[in-house]
Amino acid sequence: MTALTLSTAGAATLRADALVVGVAKGAKGPVVAPGAEAVDKAFGGKLATVLETLGTSGAEGEVTKLHAPDGLKVPVIIAVGLGPVPEKDAAFDGEALRRAAGSAARALTGSKKAGFALPITSVEDAEAVAEGALLGAYAFTAYQGGENKLAPKDKKNGNGAKLPLAEVALLGGKPRDKAFKAAAERATALVEEINRARDLINTPPNDLYPESFAAVATAAGKEHGIKVQVLDEKALVKGGFGGLLGVGQGSTHGPRLVKLAYTHPKAEKTLALVGKGITYDSGGISLKPAGHNETMKCDMSGAAAVFATVVAAARLGLQVNVTGWLALAENMPSGSATRPGDVLRMYSGKTVEVLNTDAEGRLVLADALTRACEENPDAIVDVATLTGAMVLALGHRTFGIMANDDAFRTSIHEIAGEVGEASWPMPLPADLRKGMDSPTADIANMGERMGGGLVAGLFLQEFVGEGIAWAHLDIAGPAFHEGAPYGYTPKGGTGSAVRTLVKLAERTAAGDLG
Ligand code: BES
Ligand code: MN
Ligand code: ZN
Repeated sequence: MTALTLSTAGAATLRADALVVGVAKGAKGPVVAPGAEAVDKAFGGKLATVLETLGTSGAEGEVTKLHAPDGLKVPVIIAVGLGPVPEKDAAFDGEALRRAAGSAARALTGSKKAGFALPITSVEDAEAVAEGALLGAYAFTAYQGGENKLAPKDKKNGNGAKLPLAEVALLGGKPRDKAFKAAAERATALVEEINRARDLINTPPNDLYPESFAAVATAAGKEHGIKVQVLDEKALVKGGFGGLLGVGQGSTHGPRLVKLAYTHPKAEKTLALVGKGITYDSGGISLKPAGHNETMKCDMSGAAAVFATVVAAARLGLQVNVTGWLALAENMPSGSATRPGDVLRMYSGKTVEVLNTDAEGRLVLADALTRACEENPDAIVDVATLTGAMVLALGHRTFGIMANDDAFRTSIHEIAGEVGEASWPMPLPADLRKGMDSPTADIANMGERMGGGLVAGLFLQEFVGEGIAWAHLDIAGPAFHEGAPYGYTPKGGTGSAVRTLVKLAERTAAGDLG
């Protein structure tokens, strides 16, 4: 992974492959952002003019590469767009910095070291730049560059992908300041865990299945002092986890329920996180048509986010207990698969008529929610790529938040906004419950098609323990990015919700919530 250093050299003296500066979009053309003074000086004070001549506007995501003039110790300048110039006296928005740093880092793929001289006015700004640069420098190359046995020896397969930027040197901060060092350490740990989630999401489902995911969690637990318990199929049968078993029974790879417990000796609160971990969602007997299953390795993004958050909490030593529950199963059609019409007896004791085997996420989550609530956490959040309906409602960049507690839902929405994750509060309309009435069982796993994301939320709510504050994040839209990369968002797994969940854990540790 890309290294982060706090540069003690200034922009004029740093030796690197490139120097990144910011350019904002002003009313009358591009405006060079603070942090670029030394570079502007080397251009004879004409950097803005040069950029304008080149057609640079300062729009978000725009990258202009320049040959550096004499007087600097770098050969290349990268001018990255920050979007509109902020209102008078205001600083650049943290997310604008994060995205600009990410765009620059992507443009520097193949380079060894780059200095980031973006407009930093606070420790938070420095952290945003660090996060954006490290997130943007991500690449998933584990399956590329294999040897082609039929081709001449020196010819490789794959797309000849270059390595990501190796070192990010942060300029403009106070490298010896304790708070700056702490921010850099937080950014490094956080991004390493987000990138771990991305790796898991991107790993093809023939290699990542419940057992192998559980093994990764077990190893990480050992490394970071997190207690890990894995319930295998036998244990799930013994415990009566009918939801997990019902979804997993069509696959040759059996289901698992993984519990990760990070504890702090002085913790006053316990936060429980539950992740949907369908390592591949074919739809089961209610098979998805072609065009809907190619990206369904992403259906464990919720579990990946929960896993990453627990490890991040441990690495940051947060003064809060964080328990992660990974509900892992592979949803496959076969002679042993659950049929539409089957009734499952869930861990809670409730029976569920499975009308559509493609509504599997709620079944594995229901068992994990019931189990997690037995331990009486102060709050519980589940994260899931749960419904296509949420993608229709909110698009590909925004996750939906539902909750049994308005204040908790509002808190999560605000926290998400602070860390630069787009989210929106969604309701749980009681009238949608009757659509899930079953003539045979206590509830059906499907209801009305309209408001399908909310129906799924209402289903989950039935499995949350009395009096426990619960929120449900439906990340089906933002979990997996199919379009062109932008800002710090790569193609493929994004690590959606990790920044929000880590901040939620930090706020809980600080006693700011309930
Ligand atoms: N994993 C899917 C939801 C999904 C869709 C995630 C698109 C990411 C992108 C989920 O298991 C599913 O299939 N949901 C069904 C539910 C329906 C059958 C009630 C859906 O949304 O169509
Ligand atoms: Mn499904
Ligand atoms: Zn699914």
